[in-house]
Amino acid sequence: MNIILLGPPGAGKGTQAKNLELSKGLVHLSTGDMLRTAAKNKTPCGLEAKKLMDRGELVSDFVVMEIVSERLDEKDARGGFILDGVPRNVVQAHMLDDALAEKGLAIDCVVEIVADDEALVERIGGRFACASCGKGYHKEFKTPKVEGVCDKCGGTEFSVRADDTPDTVRNRLGVYHKKTEPLVHYYEKQGILKKVDGMADINTVASQIESAIEGCDK
Ligand code: AP5
Ligand code: MG
Ligand code: ZN
Repeated sequence: MNIILLGPPGAGKGTQAKNLELSKGLVHLSTGDMLRTAAKNKTPCGLEAKKLMDRGELVSDFVVMEIVSERLDEKDARGGFILDGVPRNVVQAHMLDDALAEKGLAIDCVVEIVADDEALVERIGGRFACASCGKGYHKEFKTPKVEGVCDKCGGTEFSVRADDTPDTVRNRLGVYHKKTEPLVHYYEKQGILKKVDGMADINTVASQIESAIEGCDK
């Protein structure tokens, strides 16, 4: 099954994609993570992307869609994937449809995680991740089992994202409403859109998403 998780910054796309990766054996493809890796490796594309990401602006459609298209050609993606952070505007949605059609693939289900802007600014303020393995946490809603120690790798260094300052988060929310939200209508018209309540707790959202996906399967 091929899924898109749609939703504003902090809605829980990454958190829920990791759940689905474990529960459904799907591959999690996050364009944000791919771009952050490219920036960390200081590739020309990565350095260019970082300037835009740090301001909360979108990176070029062509750069992003080329990365996604290449990643979809890898063998593991053929068993089903979750797109997190892409498409981000109507142009990318068309480019994705074309790329998938060329590969003989299609999207089966789009899940919109609906959440409230003000709560998201606060929620993102509590996010941090393991500096070694990247596992994501939250100060209040998803803490490591042992304080200061990563559950996954035992690492003790943590980091916060450069684009998680309140001003940048507000800009990212503005960009979401202007450019990404029109995709709700785009996928509604295709009859593959489901909505879940992103303000519920993490486990409740996970069960809502599982039911939504079952609904798409029918
Ligand atoms: P990207 O990395 O995609 O960021 P985003 O869309 O802004 O979303 P986030 O990763 O901030 O939030 P999330 O929904 O994954 O939430 P999370 O699960 O972490 O993109 C970053 C930048 O890259 C963009 O601004 C752009 O510049 C560029 N980019 C990426 N893709 C692009 C594209 N296609 N085209 C052009 N540019 C692109 O959860 C947030 C926190 O809340 C965590 O701490 C988590 O533990 C906690 N949490 C999660 N769910 C809940 C819950 N239900 N209750 C309480 N806490 C929760
Ligand atoms: Mg994310
Ligand atoms: Zn770790």
